[in-house]
Amino acid sequence: MIKKRQQLSTNIIFLFCGAVGKFAVLCLLCENLFSSFVGFHQILLSVNQLEPEIGTNRLDFVHGDRRKMWSTLLGVVALASLSAACRPSVTTVSGSHAPATVCSGALIFSDEFNEFDLEKWQHENTLAGGGNWEFQYYNNNRTNSFTQHGILHIRPSLTSDQFGIDFLSNGNLNVEGGAPADRCTNPAWFGCERTGTPNNVLNPIKSARLRTVNSFSFRYGIVEVRAKMPAGDWLWPAIWLMPAYNTYGTWPASGEIDMMESRGNRNMFSNGVHIGTQEAGSTLHYGPYPALNGWDRAHWLRRNPNGYDRGFHLYQLEWTPNFIRFAIDNVELGRVTPPNGGFWEFGGFNRHNVENPWRFGSRMAPFDQKFYLIMNLAVGGTNGFFPDGVSNPSPKPWWNGSPTASTDFWNARNNWLPTWNLNVNDGRDASLQVDHVRIWAL
Ligand SMILES: *[C@@H]1O[C@H](CO)[C@@H](O)[C@H](O)[C@H]1NC(C)=O
Repeated sequence: MIKKRQQLSTNIIFLFCGAVGKFAVLCLLCENLFSSFVGFHQILLSVNQLEPEIGTNRLDFVHGDRRKMWSTLLGVVALASLSAACRPSVTTVSGSHAPATVCSGALIFSDEFNEFDLEKWQHENTLAGGGNWEFQYYNNNRTNSFTQHGILHIRPSLTSDQFGIDFLSNGNLNVEGGAPADRCTNPAWFGCERTGTPNNVLNPIKSARLRTVNSFSFRYGIVEVRAKMPAGDWLWPAIWLMPAYNTYGTWPASGEIDMMESRGNRNMFSNGVHIGTQEAGSTLHYGPYPALNGWDRAHWLRRNPNGYDRGFHLYQLEWTPNFIRFAIDNVELGRVTPPNGGFWEFGGFNRHNVENPWRFGSRMAPFDQKFYLIMNLAVGGTNGFFPDGVSNPSPKPWWNGSPTASTDFWNARNNWLPTWNLNVNDGRDASLQVDHVRIWAL
């Protein structure tokens, strides 16, 4: 539906351009600038900035009042005819699918998932477990990632479906391949080859993690992902960004921007609070080394008593040279506007006798460099994202300190597997579903 409306609006814009016959040149401009409906809103945004209006904020405006949009259109046309076709943007981009020139407000990367474009989305191929000893094996397989009816699906399945149950406790899995698209993408944490043992079974779940690391990275912009979260015990979907070049060193010195993370459990409580499907979180990770990470000062939660698994929502990021802001369905979740001392001061790292890796960067460092987008569906893990001692209809089957966590998890499959409903409706309940990804320049 969204896609049709977008198409219609684009047509109307073309018609309008036609009507303003004497601006023939401008129509070329229209074609460029109005390449998408929402991109068009962005142009209005820049006009709006010329006539500031109290209470209008960008993300709200993007989906704002249509009448105002049309009434402003003439002004836009006039303004556009006076100014250059492309107003330069502070946003910078790189990658095989990055535009050659970045115009202010332009849609610079998008996917509506009418087809599965693996030129845009590289699959991770690894057993690494995300650095958290998560239980999934990320692979490039249409069982675990596919597009259908304009929706990207990331769907979990059992590794034993492919290799058999015995293989988990005695098989050797080497995921390194010879073809360029088959290379192991993360050798850390025994990511390219593992041997299963009865105490440490091989990653029992297959899933997918997609990234734009080669196709598109950007610095500053507006990101919108329309997605539906999975339901099922111990599922951990994420929509996030990682630094393209680690300009300030390895994690977390070069930062991490987590737009959306949630948990698939339908009835999981921690201290009386539902921390499963009814909770969504956004987080920044930043710090000079892993043990000194200021994430807890840049972490926000939003609750939805209907559950984020029940429908599609807009997960949004606004990232500027002055602040980073997260929103869900146009309602702000949280923001950071770092002080003059930047994220070093914001994180309270002054108190430590450590060299500041961002001392030659801007106030936004490490968030003043290019990042790429990641979308994945993880399972479990031992880093505490699933806390020990939570209340869940069936108890959490592993302790985060357990040396046998993957086996503990696998042995409890009669409890968690039924909650995934993999046999119903093609396993859609347990799938992370993404309707669109759109990124605009500032
Ligand atoms: C893809 O996954 C399915 C389900 O696990 C498996 O049966 C199939 O062999 C896999 N395909 C490839 C090419 O690995």
